[in-house]
Amino acid sequence: MDTTGHTVTITINKNQYQAVEGEILLEVARREKIDIPHLCYESSLSPYGACRLCMVEVVTCGKTEMTTACTVRVHRGLEILTDTPDVIRHRKILLELYLAEAPHSDVIKAMAIRYGVTKTRFLKKIVTGDPLLGRCVLCGLCVRVCNEIMGAGAIGFVNRGPYTIVSTPFLEENPACMGCGTCAAVCPTHAIGIEDTGEKRIMRSWSGTPVEMIRCAGCGGYIGPKPVMEYARSRIDPVMAEELQELCPACRRKQVTR
Ligand code: SF4
Ligand code: FES
Repeated sequence: MDTTGHTVTITINKNQYQAVEGEILLEVARREKIDIPHLCYESSLSPYGACRLCMVEVVTCGKTEMTTACTVRVHRGLEILTDTPDVIRHRKILLELYLAEAPHSDVIKAMAIRYGVTKTRFLKKIVTGDPLLGRCVLCGLCVRVCNEIMGAGAIGFVNRGPYTIVSTPFLEENPACMGCGTCAAVCPTHAIGIEDTGEKRIMRSWSGTPVEMIRCAGCGGYIGPKPVMEYARSRIDPVMAEELQELCPACRRKQVTR
């Protein structure tokens, strides 16, 4: 918990908790081990509220209103209910929808089973040659992290309605992709396929975009995508960038302890 802000008391499921004013409610719940399922929240990105799975009820003057826990900022006296019959009903319907959207996702299946949802009444999404293997829930985290954090903008939503998928423009290899793998790291359903072949990293889900890898200047092993190193160099002092050796962690340790 950030201790620099103003501390307030909030109520979750009739229990009181301390939080910093302005903190995201979902963060408080996670810290206090209160289970609120979620898919599209990432603390390094601005609140977005895409998956709607983190819905809770806010109690105001005895009346309740549904809202997403990942977009609510806490304030003094905030009162929340996370597991009312309405909230649970909402989650179950959403999980049915996600079972249809991502029929091959083990993550979604496991989430659904926790709520007793084992099948879906909705039509399952079938996209021929889907590069995300029926595991994508279209939460948009990969697209946002590629744009907002990496500044690459290599992927986006393509097609419409039930045929919507995440991919590169025109489903073609995209040299804007740096092969950093941040998209795969944040994907809540582990839908994104990346293959390291040695001298190349192949972004299987992003139209097979090939990315050149660099070798360690010490041992010669492959250590990471070349565009990522170039990006890092462009962001630091030019003198330091000149001196920066491309070393794997083991060779760097050896160099430091020499
Ligand atoms: S690939 Fe993963 S991160 Fe990207 S939209 Fe689909 S579920 Fe979200
Ligand atoms: S985590 Fe809140 S809407 Fe997705």
